[in-house]
Amino acid sequence: MENYIAKTAKSKILYEEAKNHLPYGVSSNYRYFDPYPLYLSRGKGSRVWDVDGNEYIDFNLGFGVLEVGHANEKIIEEVKNAISESSILGFEYSKSIELAKIIKSRFNVDMVRFSSTGTEATMHSIRIARAYTRKKKIIKFEGHYHGSHDQLLVNVNPLRDGIVPASLGVTEESLSNTIVCEWNNLENFEKIVKSSNDIAGVIMEPVAMNMGLIPTNVEFLKGVFELSKEYGFLTIFDETKTGGKMYSGASGYFNVRPDLIILGKAVAGGFPLSVIGGKREVMSVIGPGKTAHGGTFNSNPISVRVSILTLKEILTQNSINYIISLSKELEKGYNDLAEDLDIDLKVSRWGPSGSVFFSDKMPSNYKDFISTDIQRWNTYFYSMLSQGVIPMGGFNEEWTTSIAHTKEDIQIHLEKAEKSLRLAKEKKTDLKLEEAW
Ligand SMILES: Cc1ncc(COP(=O)(O)O)c(C=O)c1O
Repeated sequence: MENYIAKTAKSKILYEEAKNHLPYGVSSNYRYFDPYPLYLSRGKGSRVWDVDGNEYIDFNLGFGVLEVGHANEKIIEEVKNAISESSILGFEYSKSIELAKIIKSRFNVDMVRFSSTGTEATMHSIRIARAYTRKKKIIKFEGHYHGSHDQLLVNVNPLRDGIVPASLGVTEESLSNTIVCEWNNLENFEKIVKSSNDIAGVIMEPVAMNMGLIPTNVEFLKGVFELSKEYGFLTIFDETKTGGKMYSGASGYFNVRPDLIILGKAVAGGFPLSVIGGKREVMSVIGPGKTAHGGTFNSNPISVRVSILTLKEILTQNSINYIISLSKELEKGYNDLAEDLDIDLKVSRWGPSGSVFFSDKMPSNYKDFISTDIQRWNTYFYSMLSQGVIPMGGFNEEWTTSIAHTKEDIQIHLEKAEKSLRLAKEKKTDLKLEEAW
């Protein structure tokens, strides 16, 4: 941390000013970390620069958004073209149909509606599930994050047992129809399903990516789908993160067809666009006088055009293969380092993303995750940062690779990781779990 402080004097000065205007000096809680957040001024390719002029190789990529890399030339050109024909038209934008068709065929859904953020899309999806099934309860999993709307803002990162709202201001009433289940635990899920006949749906991150990256137990997933058919509730894949990471997202990867999927982040190449997609009979409940779905900025021309370009020409199967190959090198590199340095480290990877856990056991749920050694993680994180690599967003995030990253970037990452892991082995910070979020 001393090294971080020594390198980031201007970030500190900005923070001192910013905190008078923005709570904690930031526009999203997830951007704050101790002793003060990093203020960035620009990015290009795989690099970003902070206000002190420090250069970083960026593996956070806007929390998994920029698989196309920073300031991608093709996207810059498309934005210029799009904006010259207006940034918002109010009425439906003609090209939204083309984007809908691309998404339908790539993600195997019958119909889509566009929103702007993952938060909005998951919020709408649970209403749609209730409207379709005429039931009320939604099951979510502990440690999974679906954005910052009240009904799912529960047991995201709890520090005690029971139902724990993830924010002040979230009332018991708004959580009264939310049921929390342990991830990867079919027995627990089945028990919940059997305890109520009012379940409208289950929402999940098909690969959990907000408690590091936790591998999904395929048998568990299979069981969830079987139970949903047997008991008549909907499956909702929140693919805000996973959707852009494999060619057809997690539903394609696991070869399942959820009733609804949510896409966001990477699918619009760095612009705000999210998608609610699903089976025709379910999506058909949306409409005037039926189920609400709206948004002034929905399918705005810039986001739509950039998304078409991203999905058709940039995040092709070939480029996804490329970014996955880089991610595999990171995975191998970390595993080799763990062995060479004789350190308890578990490395998980799914597609272009992965995580390191300071533990002798690969976590399979949230409780496992919080028993990993967060103090060592913290030493590793600051050490990486002060050596010019943003390894991932926060301790509960994961790395993502982009088409702009090179093998050399991976090599540098691993060189810095060696030093950081050595340090973490020797030295823990005194970070408390409560302070980690
Ligand atoms: C799985 C998942 N769902 C939803 C969201 C919320 O998306 P947004 O920040 O675009 O509202 C996130 C954000 O990180 C996420 O990881």
